[in-house]
Amino acid sequence: MNEQQRKEMDQVRQRDPENNLERIKEKSSDDFMKYFETTYQPPNMRDAQRRRKQDVDVHYDFHIPEEMQGVGEDRKYLIRTYGCQMNEHDTEVMAGIFEAMGYESTNVATEADVILLNTCAIRENAENKVFGEIGHLKSLKRENPDLILGVCGCMAQEEGVVNRILKKHPFMDMIFGTHNIHKVPELLKEAMFSKEMVVDVWSKEGDIIENLPRSRKGKIKAWVNVMYGCDKFCTYCIVPYTRGKERSRLPEDIIQEVRHLAAQGYKEVTLLGQNVNAYGKDLDIGYGLGDLMDDLHKIDIPRVRFTTSHPRDFDDRLIEVLAKGGNMLDHIHLPVQSGSSDVLKIMGRKYSREDYLELVRKIREAMPNATLTTDIIVGFPNETEAQFQETLSLVEEVGFEAAYTFIFSPRENTPAAKMRDKVPMDEKKERLQRLNALINKQSKETMELYEGEIVHVLVEGESKNNAEVLAGYTKRNKLVNFVGPDSAIGQIVPVKITKAKTWSLDGEMVETTTGVKE
Ligand code: 5AD
Ligand code: SF4
Repeated sequence: MNEQQRKEMDQVRQRDPENNLERIKEKSSDDFMKYFETTYQPPNMRDAQRRRKQDVDVHYDFHIPEEMQGVGEDRKYLIRTYGCQMNEHDTEVMAGIFEAMGYESTNVATEADVILLNTCAIRENAENKVFGEIGHLKSLKRENPDLILGVCGCMAQEEGVVNRILKKHPFMDMIFGTHNIHKVPELLKEAMFSKEMVVDVWSKEGDIIENLPRSRKGKIKAWVNVMYGCDKFCTYCIVPYTRGKERSRLPEDIIQEVRHLAAQGYKEVTLLGQNVNAYGKDLDIGYGLGDLMDDLHKIDIPRVRFTTSHPRDFDDRLIEVLAKGGNMLDHIHLPVQSGSSDVLKIMGRKYSREDYLELVRKIREAMPNATLTTDIIVGFPNETEAQFQETLSLVEEVGFEAAYTFIFSPRENTPAAKMRDKVPMDEKKERLQRLNALINKQSKETMELYEGEIVHVLVEGESKNNAEVLAGYTKRNKLVNFVGPDSAIGQIVPVKITKAKTWSLDGEMVETTTGVKE
């Protein structure tokens, strides 16, 4: 470390509390304009919408800048995560970066020196929760002006959100987006130095950085990114704006990561991508998710899952590989969104009800035992009762065993948010209830088929609701709570099902492995 860097590090470690307190005070609109001037890079959703042809470079040279090495000694970080598995995994990466700077993790807000909110923008209620949390953070900052507060993740990619934080919550120290989490050390340094809020949100995705550190939450199941971004632009969805264009990691990097996880004793990996079965399309090497799964099929790890698929990109090669069994699982999450071809068209899903049913037929033919689950949106602008009925009939026809169901939520900048909508909210809520009642009934019916059967459960630990019993999932993603020894945690064990509930199974561990239903 040279003299200059040593000085910088000293300054980083001794922040000026006066400056920090200054920003807690209420601001006039002149002050607000000043913040705009000191912003590095605010988000621009129009830019985020454009797709470039340029290739994406892959870098293997991430490092912590010298002046930030050791900056976290005797300091703690806390990251609150909202949203999907991709966000959970981004948090694991940021946790790895903080730990590489010497920080320790904490769950106690009053102990933390840095608090980040890793946010989700998918629906309005996800955003409301975050704004509630930002409000709580203000009092912590008052008590400890040295505390660094940041907002990152998908909400940070939205212009409206960043403007609202600049205007209403000027005590926040940093805002950065989903494309520059590898810049955390630099942004943290700026935030420690700066009098103003540090805003750095890249509206255009950057390159792929391969060698980021990761601090994974568990030792049994691991998430593995296979691709980033989404090019589908469904008319209701904000993800293509917040996560950028589709970029795939190179097969060898993914395979190496999974091998490494298997060697460390992990029992399950879930491959992640916003549109995971578009994997490889941008690489132009004639290698897709089916090929990747086939390569992972040969690795000695008991379970490989992937999420989330788009029906349009679910090809025959993938079905053929999944049908091989082994560590390929009989569970496919295949969001349909609506059962009406007319609604699907306005949603920009690029398939019809008939296309979806044909895909399900092909999957069932190749994998007769496959469990299918889905995502559904009710109350898309101007959805008629007849169109909603088509969704109900599709749910029955496919026999979904579980579904995540949502009321349409207008999202900033998306085409559907601009559509005039005549359907009253009460009607939408009532449709959601009817849909949920049907899904619950179907889930319960499939659960009942397991009573008296033996299934293999990957045991994750104590049940969330009852420390007396263990909990884990079957290959088909059924949650099982059962009585068994702690030594079973992290193992795949046979469990006899004694009782079926709507969303889970109860059972007891057994010795025998014959007659396992899976
Ligand atoms: N409103 C409601 N639900 C949405 N989803 C995505 N965007 C919206 C929106 N604007 C749902 C879809 C998607 C899941 C992750 O969230 O069903 O598959
Ligand atoms: Fe939420 Fe979608 Fe972003 Fe995941 S990708 S955090 S679901 S907005």
